[in-house]
Formats: sequence, C-alpha cells, structure tokens
Amino acid sequence: MLSRFSESSIGQKIIMALTGVLLVFFVLFHMLGNLLLYANDEGQAINAYAKFLHEVAGGYGIWIARGGLLVLVGLHIWSAIRLTQINRRARPIDYKKHAYKESTWAGRGMRISGIIVAIFVVFHLLHFTAGKILPELHTTNVYANVIQGFQVKWVAAFYIISMLALAPHLAHGIWSLLQTLGLSHPNFNTTRKVIAGLLTTMIILANISFPISVQLGLINLPSSPQSQP
Ligand code: HEM
Repeated sequence: MLSRFSESSIGQKIIMALTGVLLVFFVLFHMLGNLLLYANDEGQAINAYAKFLHEVAGGYGIWIARGGLLVLVGLHIWSAIRLTQINRRARPIDYKKHAYKESTWAGRGMRISGIIVAIFVVFHLLHFTAGKILPELHTTNVYANVIQGFQVKWVAAFYIISMLALAPHLAHGIWSLLQTLGLSHPNFNTTRKVIAGLLTTMIILANISFPISVQLGLINLPSSPQSQP
C-alpha cells in the first residue's frame, strides 16, 4: 500500500512537498539565527546560540537534527528523480515536439538549480562544519569563522552566486508545494505567488547580505586583543 503510494505521481509529489516545506523551514530558521551576526556585540549572541545548538539534549540534539536533515535531503532528491521517471513514462511522446512546454522548462530549471544548491551545501559543510576550506576553524567562535570565511573574496563571491541559484529553486519550490499541500484552486494563484516571492526575497537578501557586509567591513572581528578568537 505504502509502496504503491510512493510509486504514484501524487505520492511522490506529497513526499517532495513535505520534505520541501521542512527544508524551507530549516533555511528560514538558519537565516534568522545568522541575523545575530548583526547584533553588534562582537559575536556573543551568535556564539551563544551556536553553543546552545551544539549542547542541547546533552549534545545529541545536533546529531538528531543532522540525521533528520540528511533523511529530508535524501527523500527530496529521491522523489525528484522518481517524479521525473514517472512523468517520462507517462508521456512516451517524442520530447522534441514538446520541448517548449512550460512544465518541462520549470522541471529542468528545478533540476539544474537543485544540483547547484546540492554543490553549495557540500561546499558549505566542508567550509563551516568540517573546516576543510577555512584554514583555522574556531570550534567555539562561529562569529570569527563566518567573518574570516567571508573575508576571502572568492568564497564571498561563491556564496553570493549560490544564493542567486537558490532563489529560483526556493521560489518555484514554495509556489508548487503550496499547490500540492492544498492551495491548488486558481483563486489562490496570486496568494501562492506572493508568499513564494516574499519568503524567497527575504531569505536570499539576508543570506547575500552576510558576505557583502563582511567584504564592506560592516561587520568585523573584535579589535581588542583579549576578545580575539
Ligand atoms: C550566507 C548564508 C549562510 C551562512 C552565513 C551560514 C552559516 C553557517 C554556519 C556558521 C554554520 C556552522 C554552524 C556551527 O558550527 O554551529 C552553518 C551550518 C550549516 N548550514 Fe549554513 N549558512 C548559510 C546558508 C545556508 C544555506 C542556504 C543552507 C542550506 C541550503 C545552509 C545549510 C547549513 C547546514 C546543513 C549546516 C550544518 C549544520 C551542522 O553543523 O550540523 N546554510 N551555516
């Protein structure tokens, strides 16, 4: 029964929408947490927040969240692949004749931007979680990690470009998951567009502002030697 559900196009769409909505929540809350970079307190608030995340539930909380995120990303990618296969099987007509269909372009755009987002996430984990890109990762000073990370010009540029790729993926994803999860009536078309547009603009502008603010020197490392990382 469950396998027949997940084999159907509607089943895959629901899995994609549910995992999508949880991933959007993650990106939104992650962005809100990162806004603490602007607290003008030499990183105390964001470091305390990161410490809380690392220590909650006796240190197991972060591993549960990491496991949950991994499952969500896995299911999201799997349902995207299955949906593509199901759609291709359902329409075995020569695609050359239909190449300009809007849905085909939207699907292709989602696949390309999805691949770029996946590359970004791998880079991001190597950068701030594993410390393989930044020479010295301070385990208790996320503030210093972010500033030193974004002081490197190509890294700042990479983040900005990645966020520009995330924008259409988020916008189309939110728009389409709202449809799958119930706002499917044509009367809600404008509401869906507004929600998707506002959420995407807010997340992307905030995320792009972090590397830009560091490059412009608007957020800096503490100047007094005692408070240096
Ligand atoms: C410019 C925007 C962003 C900044 C400044 C940023 C910053 C950070 C930092 C500093 C960490 C490490 C936190 C710690 O060790 O406590 C982190 C972890 C992470 N970020 Fe971001 N992030 C950004 C955007 C994103 C986006 C758009 C995504 C997803 C698409 C994302 C996904 C993650 C994930 C999955 C982790 C791993 C959490 C863990 O350590 O388990 N980040 N981010």
